[in-house]
Amino acid sequence: MIDAVFGYAPGKVILFGEHAVVYGQPAVAGTIDRGIRVAVSQRDGEVRDGPLFKSHSMGMRARPDPHGEGPEGLRKALGVLVDLYGARVRRLVLSAEGTIPAGAGLGSSAALSVALLRGVQRVLGEGALGGDALVERAFALERVFHGNPSGVDHTTIALGGCIAYRRAPAEGGQGDAVVERLTLPRRVRLAVAVAGLHGGTARAVSALRDRARRHQAAYQRVYEGIGALAVEGRAALEQGALAAVGELMDVNQGYLNALGVSTPAIEALCATARERGALGAKLSGAGGGGAVIALVEDDPAPIVRAFEAYGVPSFSTEIVDGQGPEAP
Ligand code: MEV
Repeated sequence: MIDAVFGYAPGKVILFGEHAVVYGQPAVAGTIDRGIRVAVSQRDGEVRDGPLFKSHSMGMRARPDPHGEGPEGLRKALGVLVDLYGARVRRLVLSAEGTIPAGAGLGSSAALSVALLRGVQRVLGEGALGGDALVERAFALERVFHGNPSGVDHTTIALGGCIAYRRAPAEGGQGDAVVERLTLPRRVRLAVAVAGLHGGTARAVSALRDRARRHQAAYQRVYEGIGALAVEGRAALEQGALAAVGELMDVNQGYLNALGVSTPAIEALCATARERGALGAKLSGAGGGGAVIALVEDDPAPIVRAFEAYGVPSFSTEIVDGQGPEAP
């Protein structure tokens, strides 16, 4: 066995626009200072099976999401690696460990996809993939984990930092996703709570699609409202107007509640954060459980403590470039 090399990718939060982004509205997302590290080594001798996934341990007591990057998803993802790199990846042995929980809206499957690709590129001596190539390959893996994702998660994670994102038009439409990197004049510091695991992103998206079928115009107005918030939120972020960002996050949370993707626990955690002085709070990701993010002016610790008193795993973080020490 040859010594392992590593591939790292950060987790992400969505500041504005989850769910609406699936329907073509803009979103704003950024990478955080926690993520997933994949170790990749090569077996010697003749190899017929593989690549092999040896272990997959996620942070914060969580197990890999059975609907996303669980054993079945991983098996398929390894098949995608063979399609992308050929039979030589069959000798690879991979293991992943994370400091973000899986299935909690923090981008664990997209981070796993990007970290896997970085590790495989390295072990094969192929050098770092450029932004577009990395985004494209990560999408092939992310589709295995999430069916028909908007692309916001893996694009944010592959590029790092804070981005404004609008998905490519649906099949038959013209053009690519629109991705713009944002320069943040102020630190965007967050307290994060994990309000249980959600039931999987693909499920949440398809349940919402079913609900929306009966009242299409009403739901469309909500998606458009969220899209308008993402545009205003982006401008406020770029001006460093954090109080306005927080207020707009609160409005975004109201819309997410209207879409039926919030839960009593998420609402309670948002209320706790606001009472303790957060500038704003909302769920991040698919909802139905998962991450609550609270924006703060300076130190997130008091709000993290309030979340912990509520009995849920919590941590402080901030939006960072996020490529970590092991990034190529
Ligand atoms: C999941 O992090 C974000 C969703 O908008 C799904 C997607 O964009 O594919 C809920």
